[in-house]
Amino acid sequence: MEYKKILVTGGAGLIGSHVVDELLKVGYKVRIMDNLGQPTHDGSIPPWLNKNAEFIQGDIRIKIDWQKALIDVDAIIHLAAYMDFHLDFSTYIRTNVESVALMFEVITENKLPIKKIIAASSQSVYGEGKYYCTKHGEMYLPPREREQLSRHDWEQHCAKCNEVAVPVAELENDLLSPFIPYAVSKLSSEQLLFSLGKLYNIPTVALRYSIVLGARQSFRHFYSGALRAFTVNVLNHEPISMNEDGQQIRDFVHVHDVAQAHLVVLQDERANDQIFNVGSGESTCVVDLAKIVAEVAGVRFEPLLTNRYRVGGARHSVMNVSKLKNLGWEPTQTLNRMVSDYLAWVRQFKNFSGVLKNNEDEMRAQGLLK
Ligand SMILES: NC(=O)c1ccc[n+]([C@@H]2O[C@H](COP(=O)([O-])OP(=O)(O)OC[C@H]3O[C@@H](n4cnc5c(N)ncnc54)[C@H](O)[C@@H]3O)[C@@H](O)[C@H]2O)c1
Ligand SMILES: [Zn+2]
Repeated sequence: MEYKKILVTGGAGLIGSHVVDELLKVGYKVRIMDNLGQPTHDGSIPPWLNKNAEFIQGDIRIKIDWQKALIDVDAIIHLAAYMDFHLDFSTYIRTNVESVALMFEVITENKLPIKKIIAASSQSVYGEGKYYCTKHGEMYLPPREREQLSRHDWEQHCAKCNEVAVPVAELENDLLSPFIPYAVSKLSSEQLLFSLGKLYNIPTVALRYSIVLGARQSFRHFYSGALRAFTVNVLNHEPISMNEDGQQIRDFVHVHDVAQAHLVVLQDERANDQIFNVGSGESTCVVDLAKIVAEVAGVRFEPLLTNRYRVGGARHSVMNVSKLKNLGWEPTQTLNRMVSDYLAWVRQFKNFSGVLKNNEDEMRAQGLLK
C-alpha cells in the first residue's frame, strides 16, 4: 500500500520519534503533531526530532489542531496520550478517548481519504490477566487485595484451591479487565477506533505494547517502572531496590522492535481491523533485570528487597506475540541491549535522581506506593 503522507501524533516521544525515523528511512513523507508538553518535554523541540519530518506543535484534544494536521495525509499513527497514574482521571478520557473521536470527526466532516489508522494501546488493558493452576486449569484473576499485599503474600492464588497460580501469556482475544483509568481509556479508545473505522470503512489497527525500553525515554513519567528506578540506583551508587520480592515477571521490548512493528502493520493488509500484542514474548523476572543493570553499569549486584508494593499493580504480565510474528515481524534486540541503550541515555542527564524521588513522594502521597 502506498501512502502520500503519514501523520504521527506524539512523534516527538519515545515510540513516536523512533517510528518517524523508520518511516523516513523507507521513504515515506511524515508529519508530526506533538504538543511538546510535560512530562515528556519542556516545551521545546527535542534534539532527536528528525529534521526530515514536518513538525506541527498541536494538541490531540483540540479539533482545530487535528484539522491542520490532517491536511493531505492518508495514514495516521496515533501515539500521543496521557499516561501514568494521576488523580485527574478525566484527563485520561479527555485525551485518550476524545482524541480518537475528534480525529474521526475531522475525517468524516471533511471526507478525508484516510487509508489506514494505527493507534497505540497497552498491555494494561489485560489487567491482572490469566493464570494457571495445575489442578484447576486456566482462570482470570482479579488484582490482589490490599489485605493480601499488606501480609507480603505476593503470589496470585487459585480461586478454588489457593495453590500458587502461574501466569499465562496474554492473547489478543483474552478477556480484558483494565484496572486503572489509563488502561480503561486505552480500551475505550480501541473500541471507538474499531467501531468508527468499521462504520466509515477505514482500516484500523491497535497495538498493545508491553514495556517499551530504549533511548529517548522520558524519566519523568512515574509509571515507567523498574528499569528507570534500578538505573537511578546504580548511578547513585545505591543498592538496587525492588518492589515486592523481585520475582514479578514482565515483558520488556526494545523501541526499535516496536518501531518496526508499525511498519509491518502499515504495509500489510492482513493487519487491517486487527489488534496485535507488541512485546518481546520473553518472560523476565524483575530481579534478573536488576542483575543485568548492575552488570551493564559495572557495579556489584546488591539487591535490596523493600517489600514495597504498588496498589493494583499486576503480579505478573506475560505477553504472547505470535499473532504479530505471523505477519513476519520478529523482535531482534536483547534485554542487555535495552539496558545498555537506556543507561547510556540516562547518563546524559544531571537531575535524574531528584526526579525519581519526587515521583516516589507523589505516589506515596496518592496512596499508590506502600
Ligand atoms: N512506553 C511504553 O512502555 C508504553 C507501553 C504501553 C503503551 N504505550 C503507549 O504508547 C504511546 C507512546 O508512548 P511513549 O512511551 O512514546 O510516550 P512519550 O511520552 O515518550 O511520548 C508521547 C508523546 O506524545 C506527546 N503528547 C502527549 N500528550 C499530548 C497531547 N495532548 N497532544 C499532543 N501531543 C501529546 C508527548 O509530548 C510525547 O512526545 C502512548 O499512547 C502510550 O500510552 C507506551
Ligand atoms: Zn486450583
